[in-house]
Amino acid sequence: MGSLSRSSTPEFSPLEVAEDLAPLPEYKAATTTALDFDGLLPEPLKLHEDLKTGCGGQLWPAGMVLAKHMLRYHREKLENARILELGAGGGLVGLSVAKGCKINGPLYITDQLEMYDLMQHNIALNGLTDRVKGVLLNWGEPLSQEIVDFRPNVILAADCVYFEPAFPLLHKTLGDLFTLCPEATVYFCFKKRRRADMQFMAKAKKAFHVTEIEDDDRSIFSREKLFLYSFTSKR
Ligand SMILES: C[S@@+](CC[C@H](N)C(=O)[O-])C[C@H]1O[C@@H](n2cnc3c(N)ncnc32)[C@H](O)[C@@H]1O
Repeated sequence: MGSLSRSSTPEFSPLEVAEDLAPLPEYKAATTTALDFDGLLPEPLKLHEDLKTGCGGQLWPAGMVLAKHMLRYHREKLENARILELGAGGGLVGLSVAKGCKINGPLYITDQLEMYDLMQHNIALNGLTDRVKGVLLNWGEPLSQEIVDFRPNVILAADCVYFEPAFPLLHKTLGDLFTLCPEATVYFCFKKRRRADMQFMAKAKKAFHVTEIEDDDRSIFSREKLFLYSFTSKR
């Protein structure tokens, strides 16, 4: 099991202060939220949020941007894609795609053990058990045989850049996924909160082709320091 649980995440400690620390979303009580992304989902996605096992238990801003982007621009383009989400938390992005885009499943949402029950809960809550699989994928660790066999070619990652010690682990997993499937595309949305986040992007630009993606809402979300990229292999 990976070690990056909420308790080991320094920026979630109220006692921890960094000079360039921007506020992260506030904790809130467990709740179920309904989202239709401005009508892009005819039937709303129900997402249970609960922070008791980790920070992925709530909706994050980059997840909202990426989910909406996929629904708006990829609704008809994913029919034959093999889709996998990294750091899915409660499954915001992957479940939105499974609900609103034409896919010939299965779609994998992945995270650490701490998020496993919440992922399963939200898959069932939306009646998506036949199309979505929630599995464990700890960044930095070898990919499981199930993922190797699946060979994902569309990878979703939202708000996965927030904890510096995890940067090399995420980088390694992205590299492993490109080794497995060099024609894969990663849709990557992140919110810049501190200077180190740009170091992740600088390293990503060295290793992968990184392209900023067009989106009609870009001028709005970029004001919130949210960035939307695609990564492809340099090979
Ligand atoms: C900030 S949350 C984003 C959740 C969701 N993608 C969203 O946008 O709402 C980051 C997620 O990454 C996961 N994560 C952190 N470190 C990880 C690791 N080493 N391996 C796998 N997942 C990790 C966390 O458990 C958490 O669910």
